Amino acid sequence: MPRIAVVGATGAVGRELLTLISRSEAASTTIVPIASARSAGTDLGAQLGLGSGIEPVRTLDDVDFGDVSVTFFAAGVEVSRQAAEKVAKAGSLVIDNSSAFRLRDDVPLVVPQVNPASLAHRPPVNLIANPNCSTIQLVRALAPLHELAGLRRVILTTYQAASGGGIQGLAELARDSRRLLDGADTLASGRFGPPLAFDLVPQIGGLNEHGSAHEEEKLGREPGKIMGLTDLPVSVTAVRAPIFHCHAEAVWVELGRQVPIAEAEEALAGTPGIRFYKSGDDPPYPTPRLVENSGAEGRALVHVGRVRADTADPRALWLWIVADNLWVGAALNAFDIMRTAQGYGWLDR
Ligand SMILES: NC(=O)c1ccc[n+]([C@@H]2O[C@H](COP(=O)([O-])OP(=O)(O)OC[C@H]3O[C@@H](n4cnc5c(N)ncnc54)[C@H](OP(=O)(O)O)[C@@H]3O)[C@@H](O)[C@H]2O)c1
Repeated sequence: MPRIAVVGATGAVGRELLTLISRSEAASTTIVPIASARSAGTDLGAQLGLGSGIEPVRTLDDVDFGDVSVTFFAAGVEVSRQAAEKVAKAGSLVIDNSSAFRLRDDVPLVVPQVNPASLAHRPPVNLIANPNCSTIQLVRALAPLHELAGLRRVILTTYQAASGGGIQGLAELARDSRRLLDGADTLASGRFGPPLAFDLVPQIGGLNEHGSAHEEEKLGREPGKIMGLTDLPVSVTAVRAPIFHCHAEAVWVELGRQVPIAEAEEALAGTPGIRFYKSGDDPPYPTPRLVENSGAEGRALVHVGRVRADTADPRALWLWIVADNLWVGAALNAFDIMRTAQGYGWLDR
């Protein structure tokens, strides 16, 4: 029977992947969870209430990938750099959540709703990259506007949740928020740089020679590769916000022609996978907590609202986009890639 492995299974993304796989038609498949040596032996099936199809956690060295049909990597860029290509060469199709391979020409960077054609053939390197969490929700909302009138330029600011910093990021925001409410005067720097609790941190990742943060670089380059618009200018400020789950984005987009708001709204509202909010609706726009609490159906969607004209530029629109970074932005997109590959018969071994 084919087996599915998840590297980083104890992490924020890995847990969501285990949940999605074990609740799907792939549930009859054995799931091999992999993490660091400190988690070896953990019974994640019991811990997450997912039943018995999940083996105890192992380390990478402990797994023979020869009989694993697909391996998800969600353990950070260094683990992917060290192990993903070896696993792919052993014959397991790798779907990688890190930034290690995303811009490589021989590695498809895939959002199944936007560029399914990039999976028309199994990549010879046996490796597929899952885009950055903020990229996925952005391109899913931009795709119908591009189809309508062509994208010319995109400028955005992100408001990214603590869960983007993994399990430790979530714990740090909870702990520091409690400390401040309990009267602490100062907090130590941590995973986000300055403490995130009750604050905004306008830098995610290290800075390059131009002063752009790593997250801004990724978000600047990935949309063009996915949408087949390699020259698309995308300018970004990425901000970490003191919210636990779901990333939000304020996006300015210049199109190839003036598009009446009603036409843009119709295109967005008619796109599968998008929940569209009009002013006057109840609720009138999405927020991170609204999306977090919207159940499995809502967590699988990209939520778009506040669509309005830019009165200073007739060809430009503003949008507000919210999505669950752990689902739409990571685990669900990777899972949908697997299902597409499964549909092509790539996982029959
Ligand atoms: N969080 C997001 O919103 C998001 C979105 C898109 C993409 N991603 C990407 O997904 C990846 C995982 O992110 P995350 O937020 O889930 O991180 P996380 O919560 O910190 O989890 C990291 C996972 O990696 C495991 N790990 C660490 N060292 C390992 C090793 N040597 N061998 C095997 N496993 C090892 C950890 O296991 P232990 O528990 O044993 O330490 C844990 O399961 C990253 O590449 C991240 O950039 C994250």
